[in-house]
Amino acid sequence: NEIYLQGLAGNVPPFTTDPEALEASARERLGPGPFWYVAGAAGGGATARANREAFDDWRIVPRMLTNATERHLRTSVLGTDMPAPVLLAPVGVQSILHPDGELATARAAAELGVPFVLSTASSHTIEEVAEAAGDAARWFQLYWPNDPDVAVSILGRAREAGYRVLVVTLDTWTLAWRPHDLDQSYLPFLRGVGTAIPFSDPAFRAGLAASPEDDLPMAILRWVQLFTGTDKSWDQLSFLREHWDGPIVLKGIQHPDDARKAVDAGVQGIVVSNHGGRQVDGAVASLEVLPEIADAVGEQVEVLFDSGIRSGADIVKALALGAKAVLVGRPFAYGLAHGGQVGVRHVLRSLLADFDLTLGLSGHRSPAELSREVLRRR
Ligand code: FNR
Repeated sequence: NEIYLQGLAGNVPPFTTDPEALEASARERLGPGPFWYVAGAAGGGATARANREAFDDWRIVPRMLTNATERHLRTSVLGTDMPAPVLLAPVGVQSILHPDGELATARAAAELGVPFVLSTASSHTIEEVAEAAGDAARWFQLYWPNDPDVAVSILGRAREAGYRVLVVTLDTWTLAWRPHDLDQSYLPFLRGVGTAIPFSDPAFRAGLAASPEDDLPMAILRWVQLFTGTDKSWDQLSFLREHWDGPIVLKGIQHPDDARKAVDAGVQGIVVSNHGGRQVDGAVASLEVLPEIADAVGEQVEVLFDSGIRSGADIVKALALGAKAVLVGRPFAYGLAHGGQVGVRHVLRSLLADFDLTLGLSGHRSPAELSREVLRRR
């Protein structure tokens, strides 16, 4: 109705939210460096392509005369109430895309009540983003540092600033071979990262001879050392448990055995994710492994999903295959590039409206009615 009325008054939406056209226009706006920071993927991009193709393997079978005029999308995940089963994925260094970066995203998310997961690599501090988020639900994503003092400091600040759910990303213990970023020596990223969360953290700065502003190369090297390495094990999750009293969600799970280990480790949720195809090239599509993981642990923990969500139909499919909620990455980043808070809001509102319509037109009144019966495999 809003769009009809606006149209009659001669107003059209600020920019397209057709997924491909949105990406193309972000490319024009951003220029190659920042654009490829978002669009890029690991290696030749096979995993990122597979993520999208996997959605085409499933098709929705619409049902008629089900009285789906009134729909109820509200969902609760780990104590967080949300208007629909959708969250904004953690995306680092958002100042590359817009000067307001995470502040704009947090404000847009708060306007709509959609939870925003703040990245450890945020361009703005934990406290600044918390303030921008106002009363909205706050989730924090941790890249698990090798130095326990830094880990404890970051976790303490996040808790103090009102973040309730901790998302621990497991798949990025080092950055993958990403040709587009390597071709530009990660320059947009490095330009933006100097004031990012770890760099502004007192425990991180304590390990440096000079401040990052005075000696950025040394700070970057320490940062690489801090966030690189595989010397973590499932047992060590108890360390995070000791320093975080809210729910913990493990992000990057792609195998049912790892999902079972997550259950054994006592966490409350997992994100079935391959980081949007940015870590392992030639890997399985995230959607492909979702059903077996949901079958393995869906009764014990909250199973969230990301990697490839672009439309309402994609959300319907992921929920039908066992996800409780989905996270969206690149689309909102492109929205940010198109106009900060207003841009993120426009992308999010469009996605939620598309989901609502697709759910209803396929004959369902709420996400809880979705199951594998709703889909047919191509
Ligand atoms: C990411 N992602 C990510 N994940 C994370 O845990 N911490 C982070 O800092 C980032 N940073 C980041 C930057 C950019 C530019 C992108 C595109 C992605 C991964 C993100 O949370 C999510 O898993 C994917 O983006 C989901 O895939 P789609 O929706 O982009 O296809």
